[in-house]
Amino acid sequence: MTDNTKVLLKRQSTGIPVADDFEITTAPIEAAGDGELQCETIYLSLDPYLRGKISGRHMSGAVLPGQLMAGEAISRVLVSNNAGFAAGDIVAAHSGWQSHPVIEAAHARKLDPAVGPLSTFLGILGMPGLTAYAGLLRLGEPKSGDIVVVSAASGAVGSLVGQIAKIKGCRIVGIAGAAEKCAWVTGVAGFDEAVSYKSGDLRKGLDRACPDGIDVYFDNVGGDMLQAAMERLSIGARVVLCGLMAQYNSDEMPPGPNPAFIIKARATVRGMVVYDHEDLREEMVTEVSRWLREGRIQYLEDRAEGLENAPRAFSRLMQGKNVGKAIVVVGGE
Ligand SMILES: NC(=O)c1ccc[n+]([C@@H]2O[C@H](COP(=O)([O-])OP(=O)(O)OC[C@H]3O[C@@H](n4cnc5c(N)ncnc54)[C@H](OP(=O)(O)O)[C@@H]3O)[C@@H](O)[C@H]2O)c1
Repeated sequence: MTDNTKVLLKRQSTGIPVADDFEITTAPIEAAGDGELQCETIYLSLDPYLRGKISGRHMSGAVLPGQLMAGEAISRVLVSNNAGFAAGDIVAAHSGWQSHPVIEAAHARKLDPAVGPLSTFLGILGMPGLTAYAGLLRLGEPKSGDIVVVSAASGAVGSLVGQIAKIKGCRIVGIAGAAEKCAWVTGVAGFDEAVSYKSGDLRKGLDRACPDGIDVYFDNVGGDMLQAAMERLSIGARVVLCGLMAQYNSDEMPPGPNPAFIIKARATVRGMVVYDHEDLREEMVTEVSRWLREGRIQYLEDRAEGLENAPRAFSRLMQGKNVGKAIVVVGGE
C-alpha cells in the first residue's frame, strides 16, 4: 500500500498564499482504531475560508505552521471499524489535505453517489450550495420580478445563488472578472446579464444591467464591489453579506465598517428612514409622554438663547459640542 501524503502548513502566508507556504510530507498510512474509518481521499475542497484559517481569523479556528492543512474532502472507506459504514462507502469529512485519512465515524457523513456527481458534494450540493440556498432564500427573500445581483457569479456560491433566484422568477445579474466567466454565467448558467469588473467599468456595467436598481445583492467580495452595489440599492433591498474575497489576503483592516463583524454575528442590518414610520407617531407620543410623566425617561437639552445665536449653536452641534438636544430659545414659552 502507498503512504499517506500530507500537506502541512509551513508558515503563515503573507498576502496571497504561495506554494512555499506549504510542505508535502509522507508517512505510513495509519490503521483505523475503534469507531474509525481508514479512507482514501477522492476530492479535496479548496475554499476561501481556508485563507482565514491560515491567518487565524476564521471562526472555525486556525491552522498553525506544522499542522495538517484543513479542508473538507470526499473519501472512499477502505476499512471500517464502525457498524454504520462499510468498505466502499463514500463519505464527506473535514479530513484535511491528505491522501489517506483516518476519520472518526462520528465526523463522517455518508453520501449517496446516485444523488449527483461526487465532486458536487463539495460544491453546489455541499457547503457552498447550502450557503447559496440558505443565504438567498432565507436572508435574501427573493420575490418574483426582483433584480438580484451576485458577485463572484461563476463560483460555487454565486452561480447557485443566481440560478436559484432565476428559478424563483427573478432577473439575475452576475458580477465576474474574466470574460470567460461572464460568458459562462450568461451562456450556460442562464443569468440575464453579466458585468465584468475587469474588462469594463463596474459601475457603468451595473447601471446598464440594473437601470432600476438592485433588490437583492448577494455579496461574496466586499470592498469596492459591495460599495458599488450599495450605491444602487432599491427601496426595501436586501443585502446578504456572505464573503469577503477582496480582503482575505490582507492583514490590514479595510477602512470603514468591516462587514466581517456583521457576518460573524449573523447580524441583520436594515436601513431606517423615519418617514416610513409615521403610522407609529400617535402611539409613540402616548407611550413616551406617559413614561416621561412617570419619571422613567430622562432627557438633556443644549439651549442657545436668541435666534442670532442659532448659527453658532448649529456650528457647535455639527462639531459635536452640544450636550443633549440642540434647541434655540427664540421667544418665551
Ligand atoms: N458566509 C458563509 O458562511 C460562507 C460560506 C461559503 C462561502 N462563503 C464565501 O462565498 C464566497 C464565494 O465562495 P466560493 O467558494 O463560491 O468561491 P469562488 O466564487 O469560486 O471563488 C472566489 C471568487 O471571488 C472572486 N473575487 C473577487 N474579488 C477577488 C479578489 N480580490 N481576490 C480573489 N478573488 C476575488 C473571483 O471571481 P471573479 O474574478 O469572477 O470575481 C474568485 O473566483 C467567498 O467569499 C467565500 O468566503 C461564505
